This record gives sequence, structure tokens and C-alpha cells, in this order.
Amino acid sequence: MKTVRVRDKDFRLFLTPQQIEGRVQELADTLNQEYAGKRPILLPILNGAFLFAADLIRRLKVQPELQFIRVSSYGQSMQSSGKVELLVGLDIDIEGRHILIVEDIVDTGLTYDYVKDYLLKKNAASVEIVSLLFKEANFKGQNRPSFVGYTIPPAFVVGYGLDYAQSGRELDGIYTVVEEK
Ligand code: PRP
Repeated sequence: MKTVRVRDKDFRLFLTPQQIEGRVQELADTLNQEYAGKRPILLPILNGAFLFAADLIRRLKVQPELQFIRVSSYGQSMQSSGKVELLVGLDIDIEGRHILIVEDIVDTGLTYDYVKDYLLKKNAASVEIVSLLFKEANFKGQNRPSFVGYTIPPAFVVGYGLDYAQSGRELDGIYTVVEEK
């Protein structure tokens, strides 16, 4: 099985680029039905969601708008700090708009809770999330993710936008950490 080294750790291939591409298309098919006629605002949360969002938006046929926000919870660590910080917010009026947050991963769910609350306070008509990955075992949020690509075990993953201490985002597959013995 293919492995890569990112910084000081080995990672094993978990989802191939072909698997990801197929699943992104399936998610797009679902979203094209859900958002038909709604002109949603697609809202990737930087940085991790940039690749997924780029692949997803090209498959959406619902005339989406695109805005970005940036939050951080992990810092340099492999685990969520549990404290979400808004680094770059929205500078447009979203009152009455349907917002579709785009995430690479929902882990504890605290980022989604924080961002959903932030958007609803700005009077969005609806706020949902499409997340490529969902670590359900770690989830302790108030809002379950609406659209999920893969529910995965809690092991650390890297690639396709996801980083390990800011490295590995460029990998075209998703890799899981090889635990040291
Ligand atoms: C990751 C990911 C989500 C968040 C999910 O971002 O992109 O935004 O963590 O974790 P949670 O469900 O436990 O809140 P990170 O803070 O690592 O920043 P990044 O996107 O810049 O890598």
C-alpha cells in the first residue's frame, strides 16, 4: 500500500484521488437537487476546504456564489484545541440567503457550531454544511453535518487540502497516519 512521509510521520493511502472524485460527483448530484433554484452561497472555510471546494463548485449547476471565511482551531497540533477563532469574516450581506458551508472535515463539530451561529446571527435563510470527511466518533457538536462524503475513524488524516502542521495539503489522495509501535 502506498505510503508518504509528511514531516516526521508516515501516512498510508486511505482514499485514492479516483475515489474522492467519484464521491465529490455524488455529493454534487445531491446538492444540485437540494439547492435547485436557490442560488446558494458556497462558503468554504479556509484553509483546508480549498481543494474540495474547487472540485465541488465545478460540478454544481445551481449558480452558486462563492465567499470564503477563515477560522482556526487546530494550530500546529494534531488535535482540535476546542477553541474556534474567526480570522477572516464575511464582508457581504447574507440576509435571506441560503448558505452552504464547505469543509474538508468535521471532527468535534465545534467549528461548524461556531460558524453556523455566526451566520444565523447575520440572518441567513438557511445554513447547512457539506463536509468531505466526518469523524463521527469525535463529534460533540450541536449540529450534525448535513451532507457528508465519508464517515471515517478518528485517526489523523492528511492530503487533499488537509494538513499536518501546514504540510501535506498538496497530496491528491487522503492518507492516514501510521501509528508508531
Ligand atoms: C480543520 C478543518 C475544520 C476544523 C474541523 O481546520 O478544516 O475547519 O478543523 O474541526 P472541528 O470539527 O473539531 O472543529 P483547522 O483548524 O485545522 O484549520 P485549516 O483548515 O487551516 O487546516
